[in-house]
Amino acid sequence: MTDTSSLPMMPFDQPEPLSIAPLLRVLQADSPMTRVRTPAGDEAWLVTRHAEVKALFSDRRLGRSHPDPKHAPRVSSNILLGSPTGNYETEPTDHARMRALLTPFFSAKRMAALRPHVEAMVEQFLDALATRTPPVDLHEALSFPLPVMVICQLLGVPFADREQFHIWSTDIADLHDHARARSSRKSLNAYMRGLVERKRFQPEDDVLSGLCAVENGSLSNEYIAELGAGLLFAGHETTVVRIDIGTLLFLTHPDQRQTLLSDPELVVTAVEEILRLSNTGASALLRYAREAIEIGGVIIQPGEAVLLSSGAANRDERVFEEPDSFAIERLLNPHLSFGYGSHFCIGAPLARIELQSVFARLLSRFPTLRLAVPLEELRFRNQVLTGGLFELPVTW
Ligand code: HEM
Repeated sequence: MTDTSSLPMMPFDQPEPLSIAPLLRVLQADSPMTRVRTPAGDEAWLVTRHAEVKALFSDRRLGRSHPDPKHAPRVSSNILLGSPTGNYETEPTDHARMRALLTPFFSAKRMAALRPHVEAMVEQFLDALATRTPPVDLHEALSFPLPVMVICQLLGVPFADREQFHIWSTDIADLHDHARARSSRKSLNAYMRGLVERKRFQPEDDVLSGLCAVENGSLSNEYIAELGAGLLFAGHETTVVRIDIGTLLFLTHPDQRQTLLSDPELVVTAVEEILRLSNTGASALLRYAREAIEIGGVIIQPGEAVLLSSGAANRDERVFEEPDSFAIERLLNPHLSFGYGSHFCIGAPLARIELQSVFARLLSRFPTLRLAVPLEELRFRNQVLTGGLFELPVTW
């Protein structure tokens, strides 16, 4: 019998917030698949190498639901990504339906039409920033309001309500306070339902109104509210973190900042590099095996939990040369920060537009931008699934 008392225990120590946990590196060097103990005390397979993470992202024998959810291994008490979600019998069709409904609203054509609008918003935020006396919290002045304003306009959610739904979103992502997360999810859903009810009668040019109209208006208000709440959450938390961490990467790598200033077209590869490195791997994406899967020298049994660490995969030296260096000219950059395969991020084109718009202008408009506090004093949100910073004090 295997001794499971000595399994590596998550979460792993992460002394350098801009790097991945040193233990992840050790496990990755040792094997693509490691049996670990999750913060909830259960066992799971942690997958750390790029090839296996990518293969499992697109393996339909894995899902997010579990045939016996009450007894399924858990990662944390987080209600979104810490335990099984969805119905085991209907997951594949439910998921296909969700994607079919949402994908048209995020098509390349629609997103391209949105780009000038996002660029104008960035310019406005930077104009406002320029009128302020430093030091200023860039998180509050740009990283947070920009993606929130973009997703609000796209969905048709009032920007004025941002403080309220931001509190709910942060609570939902909380890794420890289960009760608060549940009650905030209820509040966010109820808020969205109220909006959907209004859109039914006063449709506008936005995603919520669009969803009210599809399939001859047959989608229920509850379902649209649930889709909307998911988009509101996915559409802002993640992008906010990338603006903060991307800025921090540039402020701590003056050579890369200079490279971008000398050749602004590098913003496209720079954003991919920010995406690769800003996923520092505190959280990994949870799946459950629907069948036995042989991979990386092990057999994953049906019902077992699998944690896909894109943070570790993004720094796998088998794929990325000098994986820990921030190199904005990196051409080969198949990072897995948006996932891969059937769950690939629906908002990826939008997130890229937002990040490219920010990093095309921020450093050229504020050439002397620098941290207003020592790096060690920055506070990272380790309690929250999406990670990132509480604030980013800058001066210029
Ligand atoms: C830089 C910002 C973003 C990052 C790093 C990110 C990351 C991800 C990742 C890793 C997944 C896959 C999850 C999995 O496989 O379980 C995902 C899925 C998703 N993302 Fe994003 N995302 C970002 C921005 C956005 C935005 C702006 C939106 C919407 C406006 C969005 C909407 C979604 C949706 C709806 C899914 C679910 C797709 C599915 O399950 O099929 N994301 N995202």
